[in-house]
Order: sequence, then structure tokens, then C-alpha cells
Amino acid sequence: MITIGGGTGIACIHPITRALKEAGNEVISIIGARSKRLIIMEEEIRKASSKLIITTDDGSYGQKGFVTQVLKDILDKDSSVKKVWTIGPPIMMKVTCDTTKPYSVDTIVSLNSIMVDGTGMCGSCRVTIRGETKFVCTDGPEFNGQLVDWEEFSNRLTRYQGLEKESWDEYKVHKHLCKCGRRKNQWLK
Ligand code: FES
Repeated sequence: MITIGGGTGIACIHPITRALKEAGNEVISIIGARSKRLIIMEEEIRKASSKLIITTDDGSYGQKGFVTQVLKDILDKDSSVKKVWTIGPPIMMKVTCDTTKPYSVDTIVSLNSIMVDGTGMCGSCRVTIRGETKFVCTDGPEFNGQLVDWEEFSNRLTRYQGLEKESWDEYKVHKHLCKCGRRKNQWLK
């Protein structure tokens, strides 16, 4: 088994890695980030895995490059890998799936980053899996990555970017002011 975590996805992949190893699997972990200061939970992942490989985009720590290059190198040499689990930025998960496809290795991804209320009520987490609509929060968050409509997923993830920017700009001006004490029309401008 191989587990791959990118950025904050490293934290999410940790319990999966630990459980896979505790179940008796040989688990190679690959974790990556843009630079050394963004690598998190290194010791925890190392302890939970049989082997840990670290990559950084800028080469400031571990191997220079992307987790998917390391994955390809392993798959080229080791045909015993049966499954890959990956959590991280959508592009990283998509490229991971593109990498494993020619080797016919099952690849599980987590689409948790698209969830909003997480209760099955808001509908924001709709994704298409092999042509069928699914809710990430109630049907997932883990899916067979080879079946995900990645283009739709990436487009839906940016859907609230305008509102998020507005909210961030508002925060920078008013810092921690509680919304409750503000007049309604201040938030509608
Ligand atoms: S996160 Fe709202 S319905 Fe899934």
C-alpha cells in the first residue's frame, strides 16, 4: 500500500496510514508540500508507516519535485503495490490517479475539501462519480479516484471564491468583530 498526503492533506492521511499498518500492511508514505516549512506531522507519519518519503516543490527538504514522480518511480519497480490512498490538493489527487491508471492500481481519493455543512442538506458537495451524482458528505468522502469527474470537481471548488475573497477582505478590515453586533445591511453591501 502507498499513502500520499499533500499540504494539509498530510494530516488527513495520517489515521489512514496508521490503520493500514496496524492491519498488517506494508505501507509506504509519500508526503509533499511546496517547501520545508509547510511539511507537517513528519514524525507522526514516519511512525505510522513502514517507510516515509518526503518531497518539496522547491527542493528545500527531501526530494525536489512532486509526490507523483516518487509514486511513479515506485510503481515502475514494485508490482506488488495493490492500492494507493491520496489526500491533498485536487490537482495532486488527479495526477496521482493519472499515474496509477496504467498500472491498474486502485486509487482512493478524499474529496472532503468541497464540503460546506457536511450534513447532506446544502447540496454544495455534489460530485459526479462514473456519471452518477453523489454527495461527498453522505456518500463519501472517499471515492475511487479513477471514476471522479475531476474537471467538474475543480470547477465546483472555486464556486465560492468571490464570496471567500469578500469575506477575507472584510476580515482584514474588521478583524475579529462578531457578526452579531453588526447591522444586517453592513453585510449585504
Ligand atoms: S456538504 Fe452540504 S450537502 Fe454535503
